[in-house]
Amino acid sequence: MEGFQRVALDIGTGDGRFVLRLAESEPETYWIGIDANAKPLHKTSTKAARQLGKGRCANALFVHASAEDLPEEFDGIADEIYINFPWGSLLGAVLRPDFGFLATLARILADRGTVTMTTGIDPQKDRRELERFGIEALCFEDLTSRMLPAYSEAGFDLIEAATAEKGELLSGSTWERKLRHSNSRSLFRFRFRLSPRT
Ligand SMILES: C[S@@+](CC[C@H](N)C(=O)[O-])C[C@H]1O[C@@H](n2cnc3c(N)ncnc32)[C@H](O)[C@@H]1O
Repeated sequence: MEGFQRVALDIGTGDGRFVLRLAESEPETYWIGIDANAKPLHKTSTKAARQLGKGRCANALFVHASAEDLPEEFDGIADEIYINFPWGSLLGAVLRPDFGFLATLARILADRGTVTMTTGIDPQKDRRELERFGIEALCFEDLTSRMLPAYSEAGFDLIEAATAEKGELLSGSTWERKLRHSNSRSLFRFRFRLSPRT
């Protein structure tokens, strides 16, 4: 990662297209895509290796790891963390939220690093998944009031909270493209900055 201006991590990267696209458009940033499921990563990491062979994409890396168990080699390296359309245990960790997970994010972020989370939840269709985490309703206000106190206690300041305007892409990831046409699904983005360590 030496020689790069910034390091960005995409946790729950899925097929890693978000990472590959930004690695091409932001060559000064080193991009790391992480997912607990190795299968969707396989195709993209093969593509990244092929592009590397052609002298491109030397700034993208894919890692098979779970968000709850990120290696200590990541400590303090990330200027930016992205979590796009989390699901399963990652959704629970982000929404409940899970203090251990917030401590992990704080551990891997560099001073004043940011974490950007984008969600696209349908309160009806995703009801069962939400119930798993003890969440009943979910609108923008529910999300903010649920997340803010815990994130603040973990040392994060909210710097942006936005809903997607019609037709606007928040991350451009594969899942955003799949979900954006659904009328019942609202897309939200939250960005937090880690307060300076004392
Ligand atoms: C709905 S997909 C979103 C994929 C991608 N971010 C996108 O927007 O296209 C959710 C991803 O989160 C991953 N995931 C779920 N729990 C995870 C965890 N605990 N640690 C890392 N990845 C996880 C899943 O394997 C899946 O690839």
